Order: sequence, then structure tokens, then C-alpha cells
Amino acid sequence: MAEPHAAYTGETRFPLILQNLHRYFFYLAIPVAGILTYDAALGFRNADGAWGHAGLGTLVLVANVALIWAYTLSCHSCRHIVGGRLKHFSKHPVRYRAWQLVGRLNARHMQLAWLSLASVGLADLYVYLVSSGVFADPKFF
Ligand code: FES
Repeated sequence: MAEPHAAYTGETRFPLILQNLHRYFFYLAIPVAGILTYDAALGFRNADGAWGHAGLGTLVLVANVALIWAYTLSCHSCRHIVGGRLKHFSKHPVRYRAWQLVGRLNARHMQLAWLSLASVGLADLYVYLVSSGVFADPKFF
């Protein structure tokens, strides 16, 4: 059977260049995940601004941001940044360890994409319902 292409161009031409370009969004995802982490941390304050409190909303925000980080760190871009362009892992044991951890997440990239997508929707819905007064956020402590 003949090869469909005379030469392999990888991800340098349309449409596969889009696959390549999307990986730069990893750098945009990091500050977004940072802001969501800050938001989740604020969930440990009560209405008076005192720290050391939590409610169901805190749990929702923390679970959401954990899934967002897991998805972000499972990106192939992250895997490449952590472990790419190396000839010998033996000379970079920390990067090797990090590459192994990211690799484990990367193997579940698709599942993490769906889970984080669902968690963003559910967290937004929860915040909307609480802020619009449909119900009060149950407090744990
Ligand atoms: S979001 Fe980067 S590879 Fe999927």
C-alpha cells in the first residue's frame, strides 16, 4: 500500500499545526490555575474574613482546583518542559522524577480533561446557586 504523503511534515502544516499551537496554552493555563488556587484558599475564611473555616463550598472549590491542576500538569507540554530535550536522565535525577510523575498524570490526560471540565461546570453552578440565595453554603467549622 502506498504512503498517502510523499514526505512527512509532522505538525508543521495545517491541520496538525493546530495540534502543535494548542500546547502554548499551557503557559496561559498556569496563571489561571494559580488564580483558582487563590480563590479556593479564600474559601477557608468565614464571612468576617477569619481564617480556619470551611464549608461544602470550600470542598467544591478545592476539589475543582485539584482537578484543574491535575489536568494542567498532565498536558503533553508540561511533560515536554519537565523531561524534554535531555540526552541522559541520569544526569538530571530531579527532572527524571518530575517527568515520571507528570507521565503518570499524562497517561490519564483524557479522563482528567473530562473530569476537570465537569468540575468547572459544577463549581460554577454551586457558586451561582449560593450567591443567588437558592441555598446557604453548609458550614463544617
Ligand atoms: S491540553 Fe495539552 S496536550 Fe492536552
